[in-house]
Amino acid sequence: MRAQLARDFERFAREWPREFPAHVRDTYQINLTARYLGETIPHPIGKGSGQLSLNQGQLESDAEAGLAFAVLKTVIAQDEAGAQTMAAWAIHETKMTIERRTSVSRKQGWTVTWKGRGWDRSLEEYRALVRAGRDLTHAGRLLVVPSVKYHLPRLGEPFRDAEYRYTTGALAQAWGEAPLLLEKDFSPTLAGDALAETKAQILRWLREVPEHIRAAAPNGVRLAMKLMNARFDDGFQLEMMAGASGADTRVCFNRLFDVERGVAYGGWDLSERNLRVLSQLAPRSRPLCGTGNICSGAVLLEYAKCGCESVQLHTFFQLPLEEYPATRGSRTARAMHALYFHPQDGVIAGLLDLAALGALERRGGELHFLDLVAGAHRAG
Ligand SMILES: Cc1cc2nc3c(=O)[nH]c(=O)nc-3n(C[C@H](O)[C@H](O)[C@H](O)COP(=O)(O)O)c2cc1C
Repeated sequence: MRAQLARDFERFAREWPREFPAHVRDTYQINLTARYLGETIPHPIGKGSGQLSLNQGQLESDAEAGLAFAVLKTVIAQDEAGAQTMAAWAIHETKMTIERRTSVSRKQGWTVTWKGRGWDRSLEEYRALVRAGRDLTHAGRLLVVPSVKYHLPRLGEPFRDAEYRYTTGALAQAWGEAPLLLEKDFSPTLAGDALAETKAQILRWLREVPEHIRAAAPNGVRLAMKLMNARFDDGFQLEMMAGASGADTRVCFNRLFDVERGVAYGGWDLSERNLRVLSQLAPRSRPLCGTGNICSGAVLLEYAKCGCESVQLHTFFQLPLEEYPATRGSRTARAMHALYFHPQDGVIAGLLDLAALGALERRGGELHFLDLVAGAHRAG
């Protein structure tokens, strides 16, 4: 199998097979089936909300590469008159720079530096993108999920339900078939904002936001909450997880915030912090979706061992082309080639290693990605 893996790595570098999960199952008896927001998906890799899911062309290209799911860029909620309490997040900024970043633990990784925030076009244009995503989802080509940043009040202030109602209703109508799948973004720039300076305020949002979104969804909603890395210690991050138990899935955790430079960042500091917190979680915290510096199959499997049924990436889909071992295909395809098929660091190699160590058993003749996740559950 190791020789086969080396051969596949070599040939898929030139021609990426969209249907690779079936090939992995036939060749290695590895079942990559995963889950995101209660939906079964053919493998665990999706795209996180951001600049890489802004238009239909990007979604088409990701469907073509066989990506499992894509979360659309975060739209800023508004009421029927167009008022947006979180308007400061709807700013326009195009320039992104991919940079190397050395972590506190002295490991070199990548980060994207960017000063922008949420969707900067109209809600109507966002609805058109949601409809395109719905069509791809219904065709079974790519699961697409919208993302929203809603009004977050200060302690003692009420939630602006008009924004919750109008935006959720508009997205539900664009999606059509119930229930609406939705991600709620708590972003790193929010973590860096004066709004997020008090713990009690953050915990109130996490507790109450799901109720407000559910009340606003005419035909029901399945809700993922993407949690920020608050500027507090690991213990508080765990409190946030517990506080967000009203969500159907928690996405853990968005990028860190560099106060001095005023920008969000990732790299190894991000995955080290995230995995440190996730490894302390009680089993009832699941289901989870991981995000943050997933730059190899080995890191992906670390998130899975902590209970993540799927993962969502951004930075690894943005590397300079020469950083990918594949020589053809979209960045999404090249990234998945490295993440799954790398002979040492890839997901397949990692699962075969775990089986060889007796840490993962075959069931019905197959190794199951989700068994690794369930093992995390048993171990607590
Ligand atoms: C340029 C950029 C824009 C992003 N925009 C959003 C966003 O609008 N909403 C959101 O929930 N996450 C956003 N993210 C976070 C990513 O979806 C992802 O969760 C995060 O970057 C960690 O994954 P990574 O280390 O693979 O980049 C953005 C990330 C980057 C780099």
